[in-house]
Amino acid sequence: MKKISFNAEYEVYEDETQLPPAAKKLLQKAKEACQTAYAPYSNFKVGAAVQLANGEIVKGSNQENAAFPVTICGERNAVFAAAAQYPGVQIEAVAITAETVSKELKKPVPPCGSCRQVLFEYEFRQQQPIQLILQGDAGEVYIVKAVKDILPLLFDASYLKK
Ligand code: THU
Repeated sequence: MKKISFNAEYEVYEDETQLPPAAKKLLQKAKEACQTAYAPYSNFKVGAAVQLANGEIVKGSNQENAAFPVTICGERNAVFAAAAQYPGVQIEAVAITAETVSKELKKPVPPCGSCRQVLFEYEFRQQQPIQLILQGDAGEVYIVKAVKDILPLLFDASYLKK
């Protein structure tokens, strides 16, 4: 028997003023996207902005449904929209932010497991890392260098092929 451990690494910035300009801009776009969320049931709004290698930024937000499970997360909406509008264009980074009525989100909000799996699909497809930039209402910003870093022991397309 042997034990394998995972080491997840991410950068922590004091606030957005410490970020490189491109990351700061993308975060601002994610905050704009947050305002387009349709979240009447959870009152938890999530906004995401996708930076593409062709310079385009594609935004998405969570869209809820009275049939709760068919709700779609902000991250998935953004990345699916980017892939549909600009097929084959490399995804460089995704900024993610959230806000809720019940409390101030002082810490960054990381993507749920399903969204990590979806984001990783594109990372695997393009064979280039996708950077994640995360912030709550304000304060600390986390930068994750690649989706795979926060999805240990992941399932990918290589298991489907010979
Ligand atoms: N949500 C996201 O948009 N992204 C996540 O990664 C976690 C959760 C949304 C789904 C739902 O509309 C609300 O947040 C509460 O779960």
